Amino acid sequence: MDHPAIERVAALSGRFAAPAKINLALHVTGRRENGYHDLDSLVVFAEVGDLLHVAPSTADRLTIEGPFAAGLPTDRGNLVLRALDTARRVARAAGVDLAPVHLHLDKRLPLASGIGGGSADGAALLRAVADRHPALRDALLRESLALGADVPMCLTGRAARVSGLGEVSAPLARLPALAMVLVNCGTAVSTPLAFAALARRDNAPLPPVPPGGFAELRALAAYLARTRNDLEAPALSLAPAIGEAVSLLRARGAAFCRMSGSGATVFALFETSREAEDAARAVAGHRPGWWVAATKTLPAGDEPR
Ligand code: C5P
Repeated sequence: MDHPAIERVAALSGRFAAPAKINLALHVTGRRENGYHDLDSLVVFAEVGDLLHVAPSTADRLTIEGPFAAGLPTDRGNLVLRALDTARRVARAAGVDLAPVHLHLDKRLPLASGIGGGSADGAALLRAVADRHPALRDALLRESLALGADVPMCLTGRAARVSGLGEVSAPLARLPALAMVLVNCGTAVSTPLAFAALARRDNAPLPPVPPGGFAELRALAAYLARTRNDLEAPALSLAPAIGEAVSLLRARGAAFCRMSGSGATVFALFETSREAEDAARAVAGHRPGWWVAATKTLPAGDEPR
């Protein structure tokens, strides 16, 4: 068999956003023989997130700074470097040799918090490669599931209904940027433990998403009121402060409020940025040790920049 000629390319470089991923709704609809669960989820991304800086180097290197850098591995235990290995393999199969890079991660999102974090970082690395080599995008997307169930949706990076284990994505036709507050009480929730504590695994899927998407917050909130996060009850038993975060945000007039992913981060949607900022200030004042961010969702169709 002929192997493609290897093309040595200029190193990757640039700054890549790794936005927080929010599960507005998350239904667990089944369980596979390998123990993984089928999901049906409405996913959006936020303006707040980690940042990945990529620069040419003489050898691969990962450095990390930021409020949540402490304790993160800088070796192959980090998803960013595992994503680089995946990207090298995919690139090499297509005849492209990725030159060594210095990756510098600004870690702004809390760890093990149900909003993507590590998956978003790995996806940002894959996006850096896909931006430089668009012909690799499809293969990178295919291979990204092996890095984690959230990585494909973070690589696509668009508001979508996501199913399968997390790799099937149907983009939302319409969703405006929405004012949002994210609150994390600081308790890391283990995703496998949250899944293991589920009372049922054969729950109903999401109600049909309107083909035209959602024109405004009120329509979205009415839809979300008919949905669930099936991991919220198990996560609540692992991190009871989730309940307090929900109560505080509801008391501040959130149009909709719920836990994201396997927790413990809670999101709240507000009519205006002003209301979101006021609510964030109030929660932060009440619980100074918690991570609180007033942000916006990325509108449907926008990719992370
Ligand atoms: O894929 P990821 O590493 O993010 O998943 C972490 C854990 O969450 C898995 O080991 C599995 O226990 C659980 N999980 C699952 N079904 C999914 C996604 C995650 O059971 N679709």
